[in-house]
Amino acid sequence: MNTTGNLLSFPYPFGDGDSYRYSNNAIPLNPPHPVEITDTYIGELKLKRELLTKHPERCYYSSPHTLDAQWEIVDLIAHHLAENYPDQFMLNKQGDNWEFSNLQTDEKISFLFGENTTLSLEPLDFIGRHVQEDLILMMQRDGDLFLDAGQLCFPANWSLYFDAGMSFKEIHAPIPGFHKESLDARILQFLMRIEAGAPWGRKNWSLMAGSRLDTSLETFAKWGQERKKVTKENAGKLVHFRVEDQRLFRLPKSNAILFSIHTHMLPLEQFVQHSPWLKQFHAILKELPPFIADYKGISLYRGAVLDYLEEELKKHE
Ligand code: HEM
Repeated sequence: MNTTGNLLSFPYPFGDGDSYRYSNNAIPLNPPHPVEITDTYIGELKLKRELLTKHPERCYYSSPHTLDAQWEIVDLIAHHLAENYPDQFMLNKQGDNWEFSNLQTDEKISFLFGENTTLSLEPLDFIGRHVQEDLILMMQRDGDLFLDAGQLCFPANWSLYFDAGMSFKEIHAPIPGFHKESLDARILQFLMRIEAGAPWGRKNWSLMAGSRLDTSLETFAKWGQERKKVTKENAGKLVHFRVEDQRLFRLPKSNAILFSIHTHMLPLEQFVQHSPWLKQFHAILKELPPFIADYKGISLYRGAVLDYLEEELKKHE
């Protein structure tokens, strides 16, 4: 996402209005695709695989009872890739004998579908290494959803290791106001009603000092320091607009939910090239309540970014 030409393909997260509050902003997903291949595919795949090799304990987690649901994810994603990106992926099936080919990485993997011993990795870990998305599996039981498996390389300041096994409400407990305003209960009810074949999508946004994708809680000491360096002068290059394109799919056999997260980054200097975004985001950032700015980790440099955006606005007048 580096040239102005494809700027408008950036998943801009805001609808109408000049303010932002937490809400259930999920909408029906159209087209109903679980993942998307972009032009940063190879670089991000390489980074993901390096992180998974070096830090398996923080990038992958699974509970043994998730294996059947993991195979459903392989089924969903492998078919989607082969059907929608036929130049890049192939899926040959003879009964349960599957052969998945990734033409970009020049890999061909054969396995017996549903038979764990025929893959060298767990099914979720295997298919996750062929997509840019982080993949979280929420198992449903006792009227609740639990994070029972996940492959997570690009978290926005949270920890899979810490959240492993937690319920939906427990996971969202750090978000200010979420519980008090019963947003957690309402969103959980919404999630429990998601039906197979009718997926949903939502976008989450933040600002980020620096351009790292792997902003895990565990490495905060490395990347969090960048926040102190932001000035009006360097904000355009240093600060990135970060958007998570999140998708929710009911898996019909296990009744679990797949939550895919595709993280997109855009330096502010490119973001501001599109005047409507610049104007609306300036208004939103100016109005943003301190509790949201604090939670998103942007309070320290919000002033510098606003100064930068105001200078840019003058150029667009
Ligand atoms: C079911 C799958 C989901 C999972 C696994 C998940 C996970 C998370 C996690 C780990 C965080 C960061 C919490 C922390 O600070 O430690 C978070 C934040 C958040 N989640 Fe979810 N989430 C899910 C679905 C949703 C849905 C459906 C919504 C709303 C419709 C939602 C709304 C939010 C919001 C508003 C934040 C705060 C983000 C920010 O201010 O940057 N989540 N979520």
